[in-house]
Amino acid sequence: MTDAKPLIAGNWKMNGLRAEAVALAEATAAAAASDACEVAVFPPFTALDAVAGALAGSPVALGGQDCHEAEAGAHTSCISAAMLADLGCRYVILGHSERRHGRRETSETVRDKARAAFRAGLTPIVCVGETRAQRIRGLGDEAVVDQVFGSVPHAEGPIMLAYEPVWAIGTGKTATVEEIAGMHDILGGVLEALERDCEGSPILYGGSVTPDNAAEILAVEGVGGLLVGGASLDAQAFGEIIRAAG
Ligand code: PGA
Repeated sequence: MTDAKPLIAGNWKMNGLRAEAVALAEATAAAAASDACEVAVFPPFTALDAVAGALAGSPVALGGQDCHEAEAGAHTSCISAAMLADLGCRYVILGHSERRHGRRETSETVRDKARAAFRAGLTPIVCVGETRAQRIRGLGDEAVVDQVFGSVPHAEGPIMLAYEPVWAIGTGKTATVEEIAGMHDILGGVLEALERDCEGSPILYGGSVTPDNAAEILAVEGVGGLLVGGASLDAQAFGEIIRAAG
């Protein structure tokens, strides 16, 4: 873990109507009393405003799950970084595997989105991770390093990386502590090459994080927090993960 407080981030993905999202936000805020870590939630766009209201006065930060690279204009269905900031967001997740692989989003687009996030005063959380096929062929490290060099703007604004092996997301299969330590070490070196201070640029781990494995993963050298999907939809489980950071 870095010296900075770990960030425990809950990515709710495409789940939750507003009433459910508000209830989950309130339960998460109640579970997030620890000051040993930072906590942030990433509701769907449609629930951001309601969740912002539910989190008012709590230390839980709000983030968007994506943004468009342009500031405004003819981009039907898209959400700008400034719109997220206007709703009270502090963070935005960019380049999640469900966008890179599910929506064919390129690293170049992710980098443009990160620049848009900086302009709006948001901290981007840029996700990178190798597929199972890349891993089996021994190309996992190279794929992840390429994603970082392609997606992270050079020495502009605060940024976070999230290492999320694609084969570990939503599968119940977690990378081993050795695999996580190895990749986080490589990523620390890449951030240095990009002239980014690693203490100021924490690297999160994501992929089937649960209350059972959270403490072990947080103890891995170089892990600055967790990006949690499925388990963040259960306030009790997410609360246990938050306590694992304390
Ligand atoms: P998971 O998702 O915790 O459900 O594996 C992680 C993520 O997609 O960020």
